[in-house]
Amino acid sequence: MALETIDLVGGLPGTLAPLADQFRRPITYLRISVTDRCNLRCVYCMPEEGLPWIPKPEILTFEEIERIVTAAAAIGVRSIRLTGGEPLVRRDLPQLVGMLSAIPGIDDIALSTNGIMLEQQIDELVRAGLRRVNVSLDTLREDRFFAIARRKGLQRVLGGIDAALRAGLGPVKINCVVMRGKNDDEVADLAALTRERAVFVRFIEVMPVEDNLDLQRDTYVSADEILAKIGEIGELRPVEGPGGNGPARYFAFEGAPGAVGVISPLSHDYCERCNRVRLSADGRLRLCLFGDQHIDLRAPVRNGASRDELIEIFRGSMFIKPERHHLRLGEQSSRMRAFSEIGG
Ligand code: 5AD
Ligand code: SF4
Repeated sequence: MALETIDLVGGLPGTLAPLADQFRRPITYLRISVTDRCNLRCVYCMPEEGLPWIPKPEILTFEEIERIVTAAAAIGVRSIRLTGGEPLVRRDLPQLVGMLSAIPGIDDIALSTNGIMLEQQIDELVRAGLRRVNVSLDTLREDRFFAIARRKGLQRVLGGIDAALRAGLGPVKINCVVMRGKNDDEVADLAALTRERAVFVRFIEVMPVEDNLDLQRDTYVSADEILAKIGEIGELRPVEGPGGNGPARYFAFEGAPGAVGVISPLSHDYCERCNRVRLSADGRLRLCLFGDQHIDLRAPVRNGASRDELIEIFRGSMFIKPERHHLRLGEQSSRMRAFSEIGG
């Protein structure tokens, strides 16, 4: 059985057995946080004053990330997603995209961004090998954008989405965190974007991260309620999502070029198909979205570990990847920040 699972993934010809965890889930997807800093302050993510940022020397360099990804790719990791904080505030990000897309085995590089700096960087990113982009968009109203993100910028985000579509990155995924009393009356308007554009608008239940427990408890709207609101403006039928193995369930209006998705981070459905691990900006390999399980990769990388030594650390980390998370509504994981998010 274990061999069958492994065959499904397929390593590079003539190379090492692909990475899989104790529960026989093949690990093919690595999310990389390139910075913990951000140019917005979304209420569900971070406090107004920001967070105690990781000191610069502790952040992995591009070369260090490249070495880690080279090891991961040799054992079956195929897709990379760059996240933050806001990844586009990391200087020269297109250079990293270029370095990673040149690694044998890596065939998909995606970016999760708040969209503020997307329009100005998109062409360079695409030239470097970026294949897909997810953009956060919680509202279509300027005043609400400021209320939610605590900074201005709605027009720049909309410009970023259109620039990504023009650059050929459609379908663009749009992530919308739904909060009662803040933007829940806009879900139908946001869903209607899928009638005009090749976008996947994904509604995400607000989930508990550090310091937002009250907000999460007070503003939580379930995926079922979200779908009911959207159903009021037209009939939705279930459709296949892009790629197929993400955490969202998708639906479409008749004849629409895009689709609507819902993501319930707290539901356990997704754990069974979990194919991912994360690398934090300071070089920790994080094994579960809601758990604190992690292994340090920065020290070995800085101490000159070889590719094969890094591969052994990846393999060892599989023993602490939990089968599922046990977080429920109103609870909070010990130390979790939103840039470890599930949907982005
Ligand atoms: N709950 C749900 N989604 C969140 N995101 C960030 N914080 C939260 C949270 N508390 C998602 C947003 C953003 C992406 C980076 O992470 O959709 O687009
Ligand atoms: Fe920044 Fe994204 Fe957090 Fe908003 S959700 S503050 S855009 S990292």
